[in-house]
Amino acid sequence: MELIQRVQFQPLGDARGELYALEGLKNIPFEIKRIYFMRGMHADSPRGFHAHVNLKQVAICVTGRCRMVLDDGKRRESTILDSPSSGLLIGNLVWREMHDFSDDCVLLVVASQYYDESDYIRDYKDFLKRVIHQ
Ligand code: TYD
Repeated sequence: MELIQRVQFQPLGDARGELYALEGLKNIPFEIKRIYFMRGMHADSPRGFHAHVNLKQVAICVTGRCRMVLDDGKRRESTILDSPSSGLLIGNLVWREMHDFSDDCVLLVVASQYYDESDYIRDYKDFLKRVIHQ
């Protein structure tokens, strides 16, 4: 399976502006339990640097741009998020890093689980041990 998996959203806009609808088990490939968004990031302050045991997410850059690095322990790939019509599916046990935020970046994330700190793997060596033994 590809490490970088995109989810496309059809713009439903008209002359009044753009509209995007996200629906669990329809264009989002899981039931949505949580939505959060990030704004006010800085180009020189990358974020993420963790994986999740069970959580699946789709990240959508609704405004601006950022660079996402995904790493499954075997492959490490980078992709630019700069369109509200193309989300990035981030599976469980995938290390993610977010870099190079534009000043206007707003990153919307839909998640398959409620927030749970015990689901995080924050140490890269622990992550590698975990994926090697899966
Ligand atoms: P974190 O996931 O560490 O952010 P990032 O990976 O983007 O750097 O979250 C930052 C803080 O926000 C951390 O203290 C946990 C908290 N948080 C919640 O309380 N609820 C949430 O849904 C999320 C995503 C984070």
